[in-house]
Amino acid sequence: MNYSLRILISLALLALVLAAATCAVPATPTGQPAVQPADRPTGQSPQEKPTPMCARTLNIAHRGARSLAPENTLVAARKGLEIGADLWELDVAMSADGVPFLIHDDTLVRTSNIKAVFPDRSPWSNHLFTWAEIQQLDFGSWFVATDPFKQIAAGNVSPAEQESYRGVKAPSLREALAFTRDHDWRVNVEIKNLAGTPGDATVVEKVVALITELDMVERVLISSFNHSYLVRAKQANPTIATAALVERADLDPIALLKRLGAQAYNPRASAIEADEIGRIRRAGFDVYIWTVNDEATMRKLIAGQASGIFTDFPQLLKPLVAACP
Ligand code: G3P
Ligand code: CA
Repeated sequence: MNYSLRILISLALLALVLAAATCAVPATPTGQPAVQPADRPTGQSPQEKPTPMCARTLNIAHRGARSLAPENTLVAARKGLEIGADLWELDVAMSADGVPFLIHDDTLVRTSNIKAVFPDRSPWSNHLFTWAEIQQLDFGSWFVATDPFKQIAAGNVSPAEQESYRGVKAPSLREALAFTRDHDWRVNVEIKNLAGTPGDATVVEKVVALITELDMVERVLISSFNHSYLVRAKQANPTIATAALVERADLDPIALLKRLGAQAYNPRASAIEADEIGRIRRAGFDVYIWTVNDEATMRKLIAGQASGIFTDFPQLLKPLVAACP
């Protein structure tokens, strides 16, 4: 082989090695290919505006740290913050006079003393009470009385904490957002499905207006089981990140997200297989999974590179996820 031919072959080999190195996807400690930002679609895709989250699996305090404090209150949010959760999740509904406030259920019965305060107002639906009436209620004592996650019995809620929970108020969304911003934190705002109530017509626009007014778009992910709300949220502010909540596996999550212009798929843990997480993420979307309270499933989802895990036990998830840069 003459000298020029050898140079030519060497150059071709070098080019091949360089090309292979550029395309290689680094493996994670679990041996799975890492989801690379370069995998995200460009151009007109919804991923032009990434969700305000970071690269590893995020620890999301579900309704605050609700195993240790009354759900959807600022004391539960504070607990999640102290534990070191990356963000918290809250549920928002509307009072009779149109104030967005934090509550999960359709009625005030389970998480407040409404039956004692307004005994004649059955069925105690959220939308039948004004904000002034809701502010008269105690949203903390039920937690101490029922110990829903047996964490008081386990000695993980001190007597002083239990005492401090008595008389806790439901926060308005404005108060919850201000708390989040003031603590340099982030939040997933789940808009409850208010179809069939007067709040249905305005809840999305009110929530988005508040987030925008408080300059919190970068700190918030909006989600809902009512997917038409996600479309309305985008219409109200196209820069806000949205996530489609699903109870059962969607046949084509990527098509669903594209249709909605959403950034994330938020399935129930039983509605997604680990290998599907990577497929959706490589298409440029985030996958946040709910609600996971056992360590084995947490480890499986972290290995599968879930974007985030909603848990009632952020204290359990905390040591399993690495620090967010
Ligand atoms: O957003 C995740 C989870 O909160 C959805 O279900 O019923 O707990 O609001 P739920
Ligand atoms: Ca929720």
